[in-house]
Amino acid sequence: MSSEILKNLNPGVADLHPYEPGRSIDEVIAEFGLKDVVKLASNENPLGASPKAISIIEGLKSDLHLYPDGNGTKLKSEIASHEKVLPANIIIGNGSNEILELVARAFLNPNTTSVASKHAFAVYKIVTQSAGASLIEVPTYNWGHDLKSFHEYVDSSTRVIFIANPNNPTGTYNSHEEVQSLLERVPASVLVVLDCAYFEYVTKEDYVKPIDLLNRFDNLLITKSFSKIHGLASIRVGYGIGNASLIEALNRIRQPFNVNALAQLMACEALNDHEHTKQSIDLNTQQYDFLLDKLTKLGLECIPSVGNFITFKGNFNGKEMFTNLMKKGVIVRPVDLYDMQDFIRVTIGTADENIKFISALEELL
Ligand SMILES: Cc1ncc(COP(=O)(O)O)c(C=O)c1O
Repeated sequence: MSSEILKNLNPGVADLHPYEPGRSIDEVIAEFGLKDVVKLASNENPLGASPKAISIIEGLKSDLHLYPDGNGTKLKSEIASHEKVLPANIIIGNGSNEILELVARAFLNPNTTSVASKHAFAVYKIVTQSAGASLIEVPTYNWGHDLKSFHEYVDSSTRVIFIANPNNPTGTYNSHEEVQSLLERVPASVLVVLDCAYFEYVTKEDYVKPIDLLNRFDNLLITKSFSKIHGLASIRVGYGIGNASLIEALNRIRQPFNVNALAQLMACEALNDHEHTKQSIDLNTQQYDFLLDKLTKLGLECIPSVGNFITFKGNFNGKEMFTNLMKKGVIVRPVDLYDMQDFIRVTIGTADENIKFISALEELL
């Protein structure tokens, strides 16, 4: 692309860097000539997709020439009954990231701001600046979102507050009380996006009860993902839950066929595969304890996490450790992009994957 054309980039876009996804297994095998590589880099489900979801692939073959249901009728109805709301309260997206983008396009412009915590999920900045707006960062408390002080950063330019709960990459969470107090404090004209991509992994008693909050606050949008607990990251499905008029407004700018037919069918099956969900939660809880214990015994400082990943710090540079682990066949994630240069984020894998990761780490420390 000629540099002349780049002069016309919107200022917010000129200042952004592309989102850095985790390295793929194939890429690492090719680059380092390895045979056996595990990927613990992108908070995917190590058990894979729900077997029920996989079983429907065959049946789709005869309909490949047809556009998907542009309204996602069946999927929205399944999600609505799962969430105990009406289909009119649901919007489906090409991953929950698309819902975040729709929010930015609907509410943000160059005269406005969004508010999020420091070290919060990187996509909030990308969607905010893509809309020409600015992201205001609130300092963290013990690596978590300090929701008590968020209202101090809200002013007449604020249109959206993004809260990742649990947050990626820190794994921290905010309680129902904390989120409710924030919603009570901020003006009803400010949209609060509660990003619950890792919702199902959280086993804490005081975690958010979405329906209670949705019943009280019209300026709340909760987002969830099929990429994590349901193991459908490659298929790209997520959704938003909010009051019907907000959902209707977001639907005005949604591309008509944003969630493909395979994704809609697989998501319906996955949502109802309670056995796979339970197995995934159980594995995560058990392996979290294993990893936390090993990492702590290695003298590493772990941020307590309620998600399917642990972010930890050692006497090393995160990027260097990431490269060294990759050479040993383990892909993790450096988090320098989040201003956490000494940290590594590791996804909680299967028992074998975690053992491989810990052995590689031990050799490098
Ligand atoms: C906090 C958070 N929100 C949203 C997403 C995006 O998920 P999806 O795959 O549904 O777009 C992620 C993915 O890593 C995440 O960590």
